[in-house]
Amino acid sequence: MSARDLFTFRNRHFSLGVGLTAAILVVTAIAGFIVLPFAQPWVQFANVWDAICSAAGVPQRAPSVDLTPDKRLSAVVLTSRTLPRPNQEAIGRGATLAQRCAICHGPTGISRADSPNLAGQYSAVIYKELHDFRSGARTNAVMTPFAVNLTDQEIADLSNYYAYLPRLPAYHPTPQLPKPNIVIYGAPMRGIAPCGSCHGSLDNKTGSPWLEGQSETYLKAQLQAFATSERRNDISQQMRNIARAMTPQEIDEAAAYYASQPPDVVKAVD
Ligand code: HEC
Ligand code: HEC
Repeated sequence: MSARDLFTFRNRHFSLGVGLTAAILVVTAIAGFIVLPFAQPWVQFANVWDAICSAAGVPQRAPSVDLTPDKRLSAVVLTSRTLPRPNQEAIGRGATLAQRCAICHGPTGISRADSPNLAGQYSAVIYKELHDFRSGARTNAVMTPFAVNLTDQEIADLSNYYAYLPRLPAYHPTPQLPKPNIVIYGAPMRGIAPCGSCHGSLDNKTGSPWLEGQSETYLKAQLQAFATSERRNDISQQMRNIARAMTPQEIDEAAAYYASQPPDVVKAVD
């Protein structure tokens, strides 16, 4: 038999070989490109073509950013020179404006309700949060109405005024109160730096709020809001990524740690 007779479909063995190979190819392609992608419970495909593209490694289109008001992102630019050295006049103007905030944030910037304390907060933080409430990048039914009509100048004056008031100091007596690992060491394997490396007790990364003495309820609510992306005004998701990687227990521990204050301070404020 010559080579020409061998490689022809008239040869039963040849047709069978080619047919079997083609059949195996089709079956494995269907399994690999369609069946297996759909078998992954953690991914959803819109249609068969999506599954094929995913299996072939075609990059998925990122969901387009939706800029409806509740999905707006923060547009505030912070630098170490945002709000440099306030003068007394600016602080005075801020004090007058702050009268309308006192009902919730307290006459001395220390809240009696579960609103955040503003006394001694970094001016860049107050400035950024007020801009975010005004633009809708951060929303809260209670707070938003007080921010929407503020001018840039008023925001700057309020930031300087509150930053000038004395803040609640850190209070962590040892060994009476536990020092949670997540706060002190972070979680390097999960990409979490120690909280104090941004939030002020070790170092302050511009825009990271002073947390000491904030109410436990408020701290917990913010961490949960970051974890679920309900609060999404943190630049580059730096706080969302951290909160998502924290366990519910770590969130409770961190909130309790930062809320701790001497018993007499709590009484004096009440
Ligand atoms: C009716 C109560 C109320 C009033 C009045 C009010 N706030 Fe607030 N404010 C809140 C609440 C509640 C929050 C926390 C919102 C949240 O949970 O996201 C808040 C949050 C803030 C924050 C963010 C603090 C942080 O650490 O992230 C700033 C800054 C702020 N308020 C400034 C002001 C200023 C300035 C005024 C006055 C012009 C004012 N607020 C008036 C209730 C109020
Ligand atoms: C890489 C820096 C960084 C680290 C580390 C970090 N944070 Fe933050 N955190 C931020 C920034 C920045 C914001 C402010 C986001 C914004 O509104 O722009 C923030 C906001 C918060 C807030 C909201 C406070 C408020 O008043 O609005 C809480 C609560 C918080 N962080 C808790 C923590 C805890 C607990 C840890 C440690 C487990 C931690 N953070 C670690 C950068 C950091």
